[in-house]
Amino acid sequence: MTNSMSIDDEIITKKNERISSLRGITIATESTSNASDAQKQTSKLEQLESRRKTAHLGGGERRVESQHKRGKLTARERLVSLFDDGSFTEMDTFVTHRSNDLGLDKQRFEGDSVVTGHGTVDGRQVFAYAQDFTVLGGSLSQIAGQKISKVMDLAMRTGAPIIGINDSGGARIQEGLDSLAGYGEIFKRNTLASGVVPQITMIAGPAAGGAVYSPALTDFIYMVEGIGQMYITGPDVVKAVTGEEVSHEELGGAAAHASRSGVAHFTAESEEACFDHIRALLSYLPSNNVESAPSVAPTDSPDRADAELRDVVPNAANQPYDVMDVINKVVDNGDFLSVHHNFAPNVVVGFARLDGKSIGVVANQANQMAGMLDIDASDKAARFVRFCDAFNIPLVTFVDVPGFMPGTQQEHGGLIRHGAKLLYAYVEATVPKMAVILRKAYGGAYIVMSSKELRSDVNLAWPGSEIAVMGPDGAVNVIGRRAIADADDPEAERAKQVADYREQFANPYIAANRGYIDDVIDPAQTRPQLVKALRMLESKVDSLPPKKHGNIPL
Ligand code: HXC
Repeated sequence: MTNSMSIDDEIITKKNERISSLRGITIATESTSNASDAQKQTSKLEQLESRRKTAHLGGGERRVESQHKRGKLTARERLVSLFDDGSFTEMDTFVTHRSNDLGLDKQRFEGDSVVTGHGTVDGRQVFAYAQDFTVLGGSLSQIAGQKISKVMDLAMRTGAPIIGINDSGGARIQEGLDSLAGYGEIFKRNTLASGVVPQITMIAGPAAGGAVYSPALTDFIYMVEGIGQMYITGPDVVKAVTGEEVSHEELGGAAAHASRSGVAHFTAESEEACFDHIRALLSYLPSNNVESAPSVAPTDSPDRADAELRDVVPNAANQPYDVMDVINKVVDNGDFLSVHHNFAPNVVVGFARLDGKSIGVVANQANQMAGMLDIDASDKAARFVRFCDAFNIPLVTFVDVPGFMPGTQQEHGGLIRHGAKLLYAYVEATVPKMAVILRKAYGGAYIVMSSKELRSDVNLAWPGSEIAVMGPDGAVNVIGRRAIADADDPEAERAKQVADYREQFANPYIAANRGYIDDVIDPAQTRPQLVKALRMLESKVDSLPPKKHGNIPL
């Protein structure tokens, strides 16, 4: 103690020293603990990153390599390509299956066999899942079913389209019934989401057995050529049961399903081409059934007349022409997205824009089977009409139909039942409906093709059109048979009767006199007339009688 210090001063000094030393200790403790916290945090983040990296490898590098060697992208590569740059957000990355049976305890992969999530396509929210073939062949486990169900539920709750990319060996055999239940949950959601949000499937690998039914319940199926295959029973079973030898591709490849079975709506030559096409398709669709069909700023004049339309349809009633020459000249900028292009080509269906607004187009194709309606054409058009109606997309129908396809093959195949589907679909549709009769509209086929009586709103006809109960030849065969037989020159009598019938009945004016069509128009004015009709119908409200649901002739 110094002499100058009092006892009190000494006490205070010591107290301060103690406090500051305590402070020093305290400070030292804080910095040590912060450093170790930061270290812990870093190692947690490293662990997260490392786990995520491992999960992102799916079944591992060897299997990723094998996927690439098969000419296929991995599930995550697919999703990144599909969505807007950097927008894909993965969910359930760390989910694993819980089964220990048949060696599954040694094959647990974080994320399991499907990658799920959401992102944007052209700025609009979309949900998606992609089966990961590198994990146990993309086989569907119970947990994979739950992951898919979760994004489907979110898509429904938020009103956004859902896209499924299929590449799978089917039900995970080791999980047995749990896996089947996973499928059941997905089928249930596909059905409940039908008509609520657009559902799109891309087949980019095998889809075999009952696994094909989720795609089949969706609105549009894309198949990637060479890698996408769908069948209920594969070639081995086919051979064992029927003796027939057939390759995987012949049985269930893209060409078979896009042209013969009609299961697939689109084929794509590569996965990238497929993603581009899906994005284009989405641009025509609303995100859900409550939204209006998308509309863009019009880039084509609403008044654009086209004199060339006067010459598209040949004068001779039996001469073919390409109805695409009509569609392309009428819709905005000639842009048309054909659906089911290679299936039932005697009817054309697809999306376009009119005055900037999405429309669905249905047209008889005169250069295929003279545009007659058969079983496949009826199914194709009916399904398309129902899709457009479910998603508020107005319909424009171009009519040139000589009738339904005759023959035992068609009758015994159920043409009556299938044709009735198209009738049903048009009547049920409450969206704005417009029709233009280009040439022939005969009999039942006239009624089916969006006639006024089926609640069509605006029906127009070109001056050369023939609207009648049947074609002149058929009519004369029935009502003129006796007079022709009794005539001195039966051939001349026949020709006269046909000419008389055509003159009297096969023209648009009888229908126009009775108000069965609203007007006869100059073909050149087709686009301006349809634009006016579409604008007039913008506020259309129509409904169906209250019921649980109808009973469409399936
Ligand atoms: C578990 C499966 C699997 C499955 C394939 N794998 N399918 N694991 N359950 N269903 C595994 C393989 O054992 C293999 O594992 C890996 O995935 C890749 O399969 P590969 O056979 O090597 O590939 P590839 O030669 O290209 O042949 C693909 C295939 C073939 C054609 C899909 O794997 C196949 O035929 N799988 C079985 C198809 C099937 O019968 N599924 C069940 C259908 S019953 P390793 O470890 O060797 O790499 C069904 C009912 C659904 O799906 C009903 C819903 C209602």
